[in-house]
Amino acid sequence: MTENNQLYRTDIIVSTDDAIIGDHYLLIEHEKHTVAMIVPRTVINSIVGGRLKLSSSSCIQTAATSSASNMIASSFFSSTTVVSSSFESVGCIGLGLMGHGICQVSAFSGNHSKVVAFEKEQQFLDAGRERILKSVEKLVEKEKISADDAEKSMGRIVFTTDMDALHDVDFVVEAVIENIDLKEELYTALGQICQPKTIFGSNTSSLSIADMAAFSGRPDRFLGIHFFNPVQLMKVVEVIKTDQTDPAVLEKGLKWVEEIGKVSVLCDDTPGFIVNRILVPMLMQSMTLIDRNIASVKDVDVAMKLGCGHPMGPLHLADYIGLDTCYYIVKGWMEKYPNEKDFFIPNCLEEMVQEGDLGRKTGKGFYYWDGEKRGGPVQ
Ligand SMILES: NC(=O)c1ccc[n+]([C@@H]2O[C@H](COP(=O)([O-])OP(=O)(O)OC[C@H]3O[C@@H](n4cnc5c(N)ncnc54)[C@H](O)[C@@H]3O)[C@@H](O)[C@H]2O)c1
Repeated sequence: MTENNQLYRTDIIVSTDDAIIGDHYLLIEHEKHTVAMIVPRTVINSIVGGRLKLSSSSCIQTAATSSASNMIASSFFSSTTVVSSSFESVGCIGLGLMGHGICQVSAFSGNHSKVVAFEKEQQFLDAGRERILKSVEKLVEKEKISADDAEKSMGRIVFTTDMDALHDVDFVVEAVIENIDLKEELYTALGQICQPKTIFGSNTSSLSIADMAAFSGRPDRFLGIHFFNPVQLMKVVEVIKTDQTDPAVLEKGLKWVEEIGKVSVLCDDTPGFIVNRILVPMLMQSMTLIDRNIASVKDVDVAMKLGCGHPMGPLHLADYIGLDTCYYIVKGWMEKYPNEKDFFIPNCLEEMVQEGDLGRKTGKGFYYWDGEKRGGPVQ
């Protein structure tokens, strides 16, 4: 970018807690988060190295009173782009492993006046709220956010078991369990409850976005919006479009991802999108080496860690994800895409799932596990 002073989405890369850094520009959110300043990075670097501490809530004020304010002001007015917030209000459906994180990052981005957090049953709603509170407590302890900001952001979340509360939100992100029948029921109901303006985004890992878009009755206002676990830490979000997604809706989705401090990548509605389409077949290939007695569990993992720089070997990762999860993802793909040769289930995976050895969650998979702690290989 930058030669012609145009800002493109791909130029913005999330970097620090406080600012979004592109190759050449920093994007600093305004206090009220309704606009953003794009400032040449060279200017900001000199400030970061100097006395100014950037913080999302105070950087503008600090800049305005510093000796560097003229530089910032001139760069702002000469080469900035003003970005307005994509959605005034957001709804999060399902506050489980993924949903509580999505709700938290949405509310704590400060971009929304309201985040409606919906679970069908009170006990799961309470559990989701507890999860968010625990995560926020840690952030306050580590001084990543102030107790005051934490309270304000928590105050923006409306916890409810009443689906009607989603009626007037601008964007709904759904993260209920991966079951197409359940999602059909949900999207059919939501399509009727929400206003026509509302855009829907599903966090599904493996289901067809087009199928869910059809259930919603508004296929042009439907996206895949695929976060990674843990949502609070993982920076990338896959944004998935179907043949029917309105380009303006897609742009809003991409912009929202950036507004909540993540990096968006765009993908068509295909099995596994980008990450899982590469990752899951790789896990299956690593299990094939075990089936064929080509290498040990430990050596497969060491090879991929040290040979490819992966933080975790594929068999360790499969155990971590859950062998049943891996199994059902591939099984679903095999049924839907029977001619795709990359989609197959290795014998060892089939056997372990049948035995109930599902990895970390059952204490045994390719490795022994004691809670979160991995032991030695079973083989
Ligand atoms: N677990 C992962 O690593 C991961 C990663 C990316 C995407 N996903 C996707 O995110 C979605 C959620 O996965 P998860 O791991 O958070 O599951 P989870 O089981 O931890 O949470 C699902 C939540 O949905 C709630 N729920 C179920 N039916 C509901 C309904 N009708 N209305 C409202 N809430 C309902 C449940 O009570 C539960 O709290 C799935 O589509 C999954 O494919 C999961």
